[in-house]
Amino acid sequence: MKNTAFLLSGLLCLSACLPNKSEPETKQEAFRPQYHFTPQTAWMNDPNGLVFYEGEYHLFYQHYPDSTVWGPMHWGHAVSPNLIHWEHLPIALYPDSLGYIFSGSVVVDWKNSSGFGSDSQPPLVAIYTYHDAVGERAGRNDYQTQGIAYSLDKGRTWTKYKNNPVLANPGIIDFRDPKVAWNEKSKQWVMALAVKDHIEFYGSADLKQWNKLSEFGKSIGAHGGVWECPDLFALVDESGNTRWILLVSINPGGPQGGSATQYFVGDFDGKSFMPQDTLTRWIDYGADNYAGVTWSDIPQTDGRRLFIGWMSNWQYANVVPTQAWRSATTLPREIMLIKKDPVYELKFKPASEIKSIIKDAKNFSGKGPLERPVALIEFDAGAQDFTLTLSNESERVIVSLHNQEFSIDRTSSGIVNFNADFPAIHRMDVGSVEVRNIKVYLDVASLEIFVNDGERVMTEIVFPERPYNKVNLESLRPEFTIASIASIWKP
Ligand code: FRU
Repeated sequence: MKNTAFLLSGLLCLSACLPNKSEPETKQEAFRPQYHFTPQTAWMNDPNGLVFYEGEYHLFYQHYPDSTVWGPMHWGHAVSPNLIHWEHLPIALYPDSLGYIFSGSVVVDWKNSSGFGSDSQPPLVAIYTYHDAVGERAGRNDYQTQGIAYSLDKGRTWTKYKNNPVLANPGIIDFRDPKVAWNEKSKQWVMALAVKDHIEFYGSADLKQWNKLSEFGKSIGAHGGVWECPDLFALVDESGNTRWILLVSINPGGPQGGSATQYFVGDFDGKSFMPQDTLTRWIDYGADNYAGVTWSDIPQTDGRRLFIGWMSNWQYANVVPTQAWRSATTLPREIMLIKKDPVYELKFKPASEIKSIIKDAKNFSGKGPLERPVALIEFDAGAQDFTLTLSNESERVIVSLHNQEFSIDRTSSGIVNFNADFPAIHRMDVGSVEVRNIKVYLDVASLEIFVNDGERVMTEIVFPERPYNKVNLESLRPEFTIASIASIWKP
C-alpha cells in the first residue's frame, strides 16, 4: 500500500497533472473508460458506502482530490439511477482531527435506531474507519478506529457524530473497513470488520455502541497478506436454499500476486460465521478486481445482490499511465449462489442494466474488425481449446484456454513498463468447469472476461497506445459476435 515515494510524486504532480477543473470535460483523454465509473479527476481506490435509497444507487469511494496518487483519504461521491450513468456529487466526507476517512459502508437506518433522524425521516448512516496518520507516524498501534456520520438529505451532506470514534482500537495496527447490515436473526446491526488476519463481528442496537460477537478466519482461507474490506450477506439459490457469504479482500496474496478478493460460503447465526468447507475461492482470477463490496438496501422487489470492485491492484495502482485521474471500478455485477453438490459456489455476472448500452451484434468467423475501442465479444468455446487475440499493429492481448488452463497474456498489451509486475501472463485452472459461453467486455483500458456467465471471471486492465482494431479467434468453433457498447459520456 501507500509508501512515501507515491506521496512525494503526488505532491510533485499536483499542479502539473491535474486539469483545470473549470475546463470543459471531453472524457476522451487517453485511457478514459467509456462505460466504467471513473472519478472526474484525481485518485480513487475502494468503492465505499454502497447503498440504494429513493431510486438512487450511491457510490462513495476512497478519494484523494489533490493528487493522482493515494494520499489523505476522503469519500468521493456519485449517484446513478441505473448503475451505468453516474452523476458526480461533491465530496461527502473530509478528513478531520481523528484522521483520514478510510473504507466503510452506509445503511438506511429505517427505524431511526441511531436517533439521528426521525420516524418520518430515516437517516443514512455511514460507518467508516478513521486512520490517524499522526498516530501512525508516532509509532502507535491504535491509530485505526471506527466512526459514524449521518445524512438527512439523500446523502448530499453529512454530519459526523460528536462522540466519534464509536469503536476504539484494541492495539491492532490493521483494524478497519466496517461493513454493516441489519441482522434479522439476532435483531441487531452486525458489523464485519477486517482485523489484520481475520474478520471480527460486532453487534449494535443503535450503530453507536458496539459489542464484539465473534472472530472468523485466522486459520482458514488465504493469508499471504492483510485482510481488508469484508462483506457479509445472505443469498438464496434457485431452489430456495439460503447460505451466508463472506467476502474478504487480501493484499498481497491474491492468485496473480498482489491484491484479490476471496470468498467463503457458510452459515451465520446472527453472531458467528461457520464456513461450509476449508477451500479458498476467489471472486475473480484476474489481477484487477479488489476491495469490492455489495449494495445495501436493494428493495426486496428487486432482490439482487449487486457488487462493484476497484479495477486495479496495489502492485501498480499508483503508477498506471493515466493523467487526470487514476482508477476505474469494475462493471457492476450480480452475485448468485449456485449449488455444486455437495457445496455452494458463487457466480458473478454483469448487472443486467448493462444490456441497455449494448447493441448491433454482428457475426464473424475467425477474424473480425473492432471498429471502436469498446465492445462486447462473445462466443461459445464448446468446451474446446481456443485462442482469442485482440490486437492493433504492434500490441496484443491474448486470452486462451489450453488443457483446462485459462490465461490472459498482457505482456505486449500496450504500455506495460510502468511496473515490473504488470506485464504478465495470468492463469486460472478452470478445473471441472466446462468452458462454453465466453463474454469479453472490452473498454478502452480493461477486459472483463466472464466464463459461463460468471462461473469464472478474469478482470484485467491494459493500456494499448492505439485501440485494438482486430479480433482473431482460433478454435474448432471460430464463430463469434462483436456488439458495440455505447459511451456513457455525452457526445
Ligand atoms: C483497501 C484499503 C482499505 C483501506 C483503504 C485505504 O484497498 O487498503 O483497507 O480502508 O484501502 O484507502
